[in-house]
Amino acid sequence: MKTLCLYYTRTNKTKEVMETIAGAIGADLAAYTDGKDRSGVLGYVGACFASVKRVLPNVAIKGNVDLTAYDRVLIGMPVWAEAPCAIGRAFIQKYRDRLPADVYFVVTHMGAHDYMAKIKAMDHLLEKPSAGQVSIRTKENDYRKESAAFAQTLKP
Ligand SMILES: Cc1cc2nc3c(=O)[nH]c(=O)nc-3n(C[C@H](O)[C@H](O)[C@H](O)COP(=O)(O)O)c2cc1C
Repeated sequence: MKTLCLYYTRTNKTKEVMETIAGAIGADLAAYTDGKDRSGVLGYVGACFASVKRVLPNVAIKGNVDLTAYDRVLIGMPVWAEAPCAIGRAFIQKYRDRLPADVYFVVTHMGAHDYMAKIKAMDHLLEKPSAGQVSIRTKENDYRKESAAFAQTLKP
């Protein structure tokens, strides 16, 4: 099964999670972005604004990626303001028609509670049930180990 791990990241946590998963299952890896620099304090403020805006940002995959070449796609994104971030939600909405049958959501967050209900609710954007979901805490948690454990569940 050919798998693509996609991620949006601001501070590289989601990138590390997706790199770990991709490494464990031999998947390809690519980033997506809305092209905005969200580094530092100003970037944090920009992320807060993006979270409350009604219009979803315009996103694109970095590099030359043919989504139709994959049987399975994992979409990684962080939580912003108590929900999977606007960039990730925009990605699902824009690319849903080009995604394979098997789509997984991998969402990272800082807080102690998981975001499973809100992650599952993104099926609404995907317009079909996602094949799987995981909520991974990146603070005070061995998130690489948790990512590797999740990757094991993806093996045949
Ligand atoms: C604007 C903003 C809002 C955030 N809101 C939350 C939140 O509501 N709950 C939470 O657990 N983490 C929140 N976080 C923390 C990130 O979800 C967490 O650090 C994530 O793993 C960062 O991933 P990244 O390094 O790939 O950007 C927020 C981060 C930012 C920048």
